[in-house]
Amino acid sequence: MRIFALSDIHVDYDANAKWVENLSVVEYQDDLLILAGDLTDKPPLFEWCVRAFVKRFRKVVFVPGNHDLWVAREGRDKNSLQKFAEVCDVVEASGATMRTYRERGVAIHPLLGWYDYSFGEPSEELQAMWMDFRACRWPDGYGANEISLHFDALNRPIADARDETVITCSHFLPRIDLMPWYVSGSTRLLYPILGSSRLEAQLRRMNPGIHVYGHSHLNRNVTIDGVTYVNNAFGYPAETMIAAKALLAIHAC
Ligand SMILES: [Fe+2]
Repeated sequence: MRIFALSDIHVDYDANAKWVENLSVVEYQDDLLILAGDLTDKPPLFEWCVRAFVKRFRKVVFVPGNHDLWVAREGRDKNSLQKFAEVCDVVEASGATMRTYRERGVAIHPLLGWYDYSFGEPSEELQAMWMDFRACRWPDGYGANEISLHFDALNRPIADARDETVITCSHFLPRIDLMPWYVSGSTRLLYPILGSSRLEAQLRRMNPGIHVYGHSHLNRNVTIDGVTYVNNAFGYPAETMIAAKALLAIHAC
């Protein structure tokens, strides 16, 4: 059994959807897939994508990303928490899961989250250009901190001493030093919306060997204080320099 990581498949792009469609339906039947969010905001396409992976893998562990909760294309009365509930229903009905999954000594804990500006306050420029501020809708009184707290409270990973291998996963970054020193100023502008230090606190309580994350589209594999952080985002078609655009095996047993 191998465990693969993938995020940010963004199947709104035909080339990305084609890549999913062309994945073998035979090769990964004994394997698990950690799918770390940002499939699409379009419900029929979202369901197609989840089912496409479920068909190819023994089990798919999913954690949603910001794009999955966009409601701009849907009725004015729907908010992103309602969209989240729909996403949960589709994932579970498809045979994937958003809960802790254990098999053969491996525990995979998906961690929900949202950015809470613990990596910095958003500038006016960022607020004007970042789509989530227009494409997501939240209940009255919900700012970034309330959204982050809401998802944080839904996480209930339970450690078990019998787990030989512990893997956690989130869409958002748990720490900003996962961004390499050489990124440009325009990328640094995005830091406030990249993640939350709450995720780091939660994952450290689980003492994982590996943490899988997405969102930045910048493929990474870096070990910090005993945890190996892996980003294997597929990314947008043009992002060929920062994304390998291939499944990545992170563990085998
Ligand atoms: Fe994202």
